[in-house]
Amino acid sequence: MNNFSFSNSVKIIFGKGSIAKIAEEIPADARVLMTYGGGSIKKNGVYEQVKKAMEGRELFEFGGIEPNPHFETCMKAVELCKKEKIDFLLSVGGGSVLDGTKLIAAAQFVEGDPWGILVEGKQPSNALPIGVVLTLPATGSEMNSGAVITKDATKEKRDFNSRLVLPKFSVLDPETTYSLPPRQIGNGVVDTFVHVAEQYLTYPVGAKVQDRFAESILSVLVEEGPQALKTPEDYEVRSNLMWASTWALNGWISKGVPEDWATHMIGHEITALYGLDHGQTLAIVLPGVLSVMRGEKGAKIMQMGERVFGVSEGDEASRIEQSIAKLEAFFVSMGVKTRLSDYGLAEDCIEPVVKRLADRGAVLGENKTITPEKVREILKARV
Ligand code: NZQ
Ligand code: ZN
Repeated sequence: MNNFSFSNSVKIIFGKGSIAKIAEEIPADARVLMTYGGGSIKKNGVYEQVKKAMEGRELFEFGGIEPNPHFETCMKAVELCKKEKIDFLLSVGGGSVLDGTKLIAAAQFVEGDPWGILVEGKQPSNALPIGVVLTLPATGSEMNSGAVITKDATKEKRDFNSRLVLPKFSVLDPETTYSLPPRQIGNGVVDTFVHVAEQYLTYPVGAKVQDRFAESILSVLVEEGPQALKTPEDYEVRSNLMWASTWALNGWISKGVPEDWATHMIGHEITALYGLDHGQTLAIVLPGVLSVMRGEKGAKIMQMGERVFGVSEGDEASRIEQSIAKLEAFFVSMGVKTRLSDYGLAEDCIEPVVKRLADRGAVLGENKTITPEKVREILKARV
């Protein structure tokens, strides 16, 4: 196991009815801006629950944060924060609303153009405190310090990390996820699966606690994911999926082990250029990364195959092959298609992705061996 340090200060408030507790977590005199997306919270009763919980408090609203949140939209919210002297942000929605809120929290505290946080590694000197009501289990953003933002004008999708934007608290009420459409259930399960894969399907370092933890998250997804599609209002199923996605990316399973993240970096470019959902891009790319990089990842692919999918027959090459096939079949069973052509994309979509990564000097993977040429090979195998 490699050396590491770990701390995570986010307070999790889990379970049905928990939205009622948010006011206790927010200073009584705070001027709060509630941020939300395209309106799902107004259809599933979450908006009313938040308003009720915040009765008598200074509550402002900013809606319209898009999936793959736009930098431009977030900057409008920053203006509102300055105008109304907002000193607390309450993110109500999925990962996109929360990521946008993290940028809003930090943008006032960075010198010059806030886009510098995303592309130049500028760090904010401070951030507004954030509270969260999560309605879509997927990103882990509710318990991590990352955010992924898209600049609409240039179609760039980039990320930043700052401990200053770690939420103060996150409310996870599984009942809020009953209203998710099948497409978002599938995307969320795939995203969670791939977060684990990025931190687990690398090479062995003898980190047994992290490995078994990662495998337990994957096993829960395989067990409960299809069930969520079949019986959407099953509280136990939704609870397990929600908790699984938080743990998949709250920093814990990455401690003391190598990390990959190539699938995410390639996927972000596909979303930025062609508009596919985050989860859809991951379902396309991960099987390709595993297949092309099997020389480096073989031992862990086989370990996952055996412990998560029960692959125990055949020689090494056959076990790796079977394991990747089972993983891809699982994504398909969640209703998430795994080929570029399934989304109307042909081979000519590949070069722009490769060029963007090459222009940025990106060399990806746990061993920094996924060069732009390898990205081309990976994507050619995914048409
Ligand atoms: O906008 P509204 O109307 O709220 O609708 C949303 C949106 O259309 C809808 N939705 C959310 N909760 C719902 C619901 N519909 C019905 N019932 C509910 N309970 O779902 C749609 C997608 O929402 P979005 O927030 O975009 O999805 P997700 O949570 O998957 O977030 C994806 C974004 O997170 C980034 C991705 O790149 C993408 O931009 N990521 C952030 C990470 C992080 N901060 O750590 C890590 C991830 O790898 C990921 O990259
Ligand atoms: Zn992701």
